[in-house]
Amino acid sequence: MSTGKFIVIEGMEGAGKSSAIGVIERILNQHGIEYINTREPGGTPLAESLRDMVKSVEHKETLTVETELLLMYASRSQLLANKILPALTAGKWVIGDRHDLSSRAYQGGGRGFDEAVMGTISDITLKGFRPDITLYLDIDPHIGLSRAQARGDLDRIELEKMEFFIRVHNKYRELAEQDESIITVDAAQVMPKVHLDIEKAVNEFIAKIDLD
Ligand code: TMP
Repeated sequence: MSTGKFIVIEGMEGAGKSSAIGVIERILNQHGIEYINTREPGGTPLAESLRDMVKSVEHKETLTVETELLLMYASRSQLLANKILPALTAGKWVIGDRHDLSSRAYQGGGRGFDEAVMGTISDITLKGFRPDITLYLDIDPHIGLSRAQARGDLDRIELEKMEFFIRVHNKYRELAEQDESIITVDAAQVMPKVHLDIEKAVNEFIAKIDLD
């Protein structure tokens, strides 16, 4: 039995990750591919507790940027060991709502941790594990944030200033350009066109595997 594939969907708040995941699910179902869904931070009972910690606005003390960084990777470590790797080994595909690229963009770009620090902590956590394909939904942070605000109830990170999101966005774009396993989708297009682009990317990925 061949191992499963790890497809990750990435992007800033309001980029349309949830509906993009629906598109990917439909394609995998059409191909009869078994899959599980994950989200980060979170995805296991312990990692979900870490997610609550990282998103909460209720803390009675400041959550430092170092703690935020380490909580993201602690969550990822739990998810990788207890959910992603067992599923892939069992031949199931995994659709990930965010993964390491989010830390590179938010903690690396947004909080300003340098590439060397990010690389080291990522290596300790992931030991070279990488998604097979990442779909990055690119959206101007002004548009994305206004969509997220319209949904209501912003979490601790969503309450950051616009300059933070501009740094996150720039880092996402920079990293997406450097890595050919990251497909950038223009999420500012009308929804049917965004979905068509996602379908195309996923179908091409599946066709390539069939050929291998
Ligand atoms: P979301 O899954 O609802 O988008 O919320 C997750 C939030 O956490 C979002 O603001 C992005 C942020 N985040 C990071 O800052 N670093 C990370 O590594 C991950 C996975 C998420």
